[in-house]
Amino acid sequence: MSDFQRRDDFIPYNVPDITDAEINEVVETLKSGWVAKGPRTNRFEQEFAGYLGAKHAVAMNSCTAALHIALLAKGIGPGDEVITTPMTFASTASTIIHTGATPVFADIDYRTGCIDPDEIEKKITSRTKAIVPVHYSGQVCDLDRIYAIADKHGLFVSEDAAHALWSRYKGRLIGNKLQGAASYSFYATKNLCTGDGGMLVTDDDEIDARARILSGQGMSHNAWNRYAKGGSWKYDIAEPGFKYNMFDIQAALGLVQLSRLEEMQAARLKIAAKYQEAFGKIDALDPPFVPDYTTHCWHLYVLRIVPELLTIDRDQFIVELNERNVGTSVHFIPVHNMSAYQKRFGFVDSDFPMAQKHFERIISLPLYPTMTDEQVDYVIAAVTDIVETYHK
Ligand SMILES: Cc1ncc(COP(=O)(O)O)c(C=O)c1O
Repeated sequence: MSDFQRRDDFIPYNVPDITDAEINEVVETLKSGWVAKGPRTNRFEQEFAGYLGAKHAVAMNSCTAALHIALLAKGIGPGDEVITTPMTFASTASTIIHTGATPVFADIDYRTGCIDPDEIEKKITSRTKAIVPVHYSGQVCDLDRIYAIADKHGLFVSEDAAHALWSRYKGRLIGNKLQGAASYSFYATKNLCTGDGGMLVTDDDEIDARARILSGQGMSHNAWNRYAKGGSWKYDIAEPGFKYNMFDIQAALGLVQLSRLEEMQAARLKIAAKYQEAFGKIDALDPPFVPDYTTHCWHLYVLRIVPELLTIDRDQFIVELNERNVGTSVHFIPVHNMSAYQKRFGFVDSDFPMAQKHFERIISLPLYPTMTDEQVDYVIAAVTDIVETYHK
């Protein structure tokens, strides 16, 4: 019998790691007289690009915006097909639709949750123009294989790196020496948080130039500076654009968070190692498999249950965790299960069997730098107690 002791206070699924340093920088920004896109946004772009060793970084108000702009900057539009994974947040696919192109899903590699390169190959047609692989949870996609497919068929690769800041493929940071583009998210739950925010990173001068114009209302370059001394009131609209830019209050958070990234990552890695060690010993659990080519940033800890060995399913497992005061999430309900996609493209849930099987088994556990050792141990104890209570 388990000696599990239920705690009284709730462990949230996520809490952003904001210190006095971030708060002070935001206050400084507010006092500076420049709160819109300006000097701090520019510095954040430079420091972010410098951190990754990338040529260009364009700061946006979300990763969704960055994903949209990456495709538009490359001229993706009506009549084109873009291959991506169903195991992602909706914006990976909706941004394809917003360009006028058609999203084409390729199933995942069940071992990692990332898109399966063999499935990509099967989906290529004469209309395919791009691939949007998602570095799911901080795992990284098998990029050598994906870029080999892209090279063979002349396709653009726009990496969805929303989860993958700090992750490495074969020892190299995602975003470093990019052939295409990569989009990062700084949403509240991410490894670097600006509340909401994103960054488009590329080594391609043309993508960079077009992304700057498109994300800033289509205005000619440096129009953000038109209210400063020496700035010009004249601007042109080169093409109809979007209001997608980051602003300096977000960048203030981003600059400090970037300077604290290694410290925050060290805490994440420690928690993930504890989970891996504990859950690897339990037969009714299937902890994340990390291939040799991956250095995982542990944005998410996605635990799979083995329902064949339990008397409860994933949904009930989450209820049990909630009753034990542990917050959770599910990443993701596959996009092809969503009503908008089923109506528009005729998908049924079983269309992507690996994504579906993965979805039915997953639970994202709390994992953030401010978690205490006691909270981590408690989450492990709660999961273990549920398995012991409901083991067949
Ligand atoms: C895989 C993935 N791509 C894109 C996004 C969109 O990011 P944002 O909220 O910054 O627009 C998310 C959001 O969580 C995501 O999980």
